[in-house]
Amino acid sequence: MIIEKVWAREVLDSRGNPTVEAEITVSGHRITAIAPSGASTGTWEAHELRDGGKRYGGKGVLKAVENVRTEISGILTGTDPADQEAADRAMTELDGTPGKSRLGANATVAVSLAVAKAGAMAEGVPLYEHIGKGKVLPVPMFNIINGGKHAGGNLKIQECMLVPAGLPSYSECLRAASEIYMSLKNLLKKKYGPSAVNIGDEGGFAPPVNTVSEALETILEAASDAGYAPGKEIFLAMDAASSEFFENGRYDVDGMSLTAGELSDHYVSLTKEFPLVSIEDPFFEDDFETTAQLTKKIGNKVQIVGDDLFVTNTERLMRGIKEGAANALLLKVNQIGTVTESAEAAGASFENGYRVIVSHRSGESEDTSISDLSVGWGTGQIKTGAPARGERTAKYNRLLRIEEELGSAAVFPGKKAFGL
Ligand code: PGA
Ligand code: ZN
Repeated sequence: MIIEKVWAREVLDSRGNPTVEAEITVSGHRITAIAPSGASTGTWEAHELRDGGKRYGGKGVLKAVENVRTEISGILTGTDPADQEAADRAMTELDGTPGKSRLGANATVAVSLAVAKAGAMAEGVPLYEHIGKGKVLPVPMFNIINGGKHAGGNLKIQECMLVPAGLPSYSECLRAASEIYMSLKNLLKKKYGPSAVNIGDEGGFAPPVNTVSEALETILEAASDAGYAPGKEIFLAMDAASSEFFENGRYDVDGMSLTAGELSDHYVSLTKEFPLVSIEDPFFEDDFETTAQLTKKIGNKVQIVGDDLFVTNTERLMRGIKEGAANALLLKVNQIGTVTESAEAAGASFENGYRVIVSHRSGESEDTSISDLSVGWGTGQIKTGAPARGERTAKYNRLLRIEEELGSAAVFPGKKAFGL
């Protein structure tokens, strides 16, 4: 089968901003994929092409759309959608810049994901099977208290996540998360009043808490209220996204102004106080050194994740591996711009004993590709927001369908995904 047509259009993401939807026609079937978009983006991410000017406050993506309709269509029309590497290589070469700034990574990622889906269709297999041979249902990390750039409160730590790794299956994790989300809602209302259950960009609550301890404590209380055992069934994770509160060499967090060393001690004491299994971007995006020190100190029991640190870029990841910075990669396809380059980063992680977490962005859509990527690549972990709001539940619901489809062939790593 060949790609008959490559097209694109401007659609809206979950924040209401425009984004690129690519559409690929194979055997008369039109297959679409949508580019996600971050808010706390890393400096070293591939370039998201925006139009500027007045339209959509400068956020329009008509130039990126045009690039798909003309240049990208020119090189991909007539090619085999099952050859993902060839399509991605052709786009990367056509772009010619290191960060995909000419065509726009929002253009290439939408096309790359659409090619993957089209390839799956051409081969008559589900996307997860087309993309890899894994049959691993990931342990989900649910961001149920939103802070930082994703909410409007005082909490500087961006994400406080619930990790129900002690439950026996993916679907049981999802049920626990939903039940705990509802009990958290009641608890927050009681503690802080009705406005405390307003939500942030990823569907988690944005209560008026001032410190991450307060947020994590409340999550554990909600878990107990719902009948789950913290430290046995329920674990916690956080994404500090610390570049967002780093200025002039200091971190302004939890009501304190801390040096990197002091912040490191703060994390260590949090891991003693709470059943934390994962800390993402503990230090600002270029601080490989302190990240390596923290990894050395607590990395054997807590996963240290590089998001803005690595930006799904194999070169940055290899530097991290060499220096011992972090022990896990947060994988976001749009940070690098193609499925193939993302697979490369995942492969390099696995080869070097680093774990991989497939991740959504804070600006999302109904597209569910990342659910399939996590299963097919066998990453064992996914983070895609709260168990609420359509753009988040789309991914969680897709995983339910995959779990059903795989039946007894499905593998669920549970606590093992975190080395527990
Ligand atoms: P972003 O946030 O999509 O706004 O970058 C997600 C994350 O930091 O993991
Ligand atoms: Zn992050």
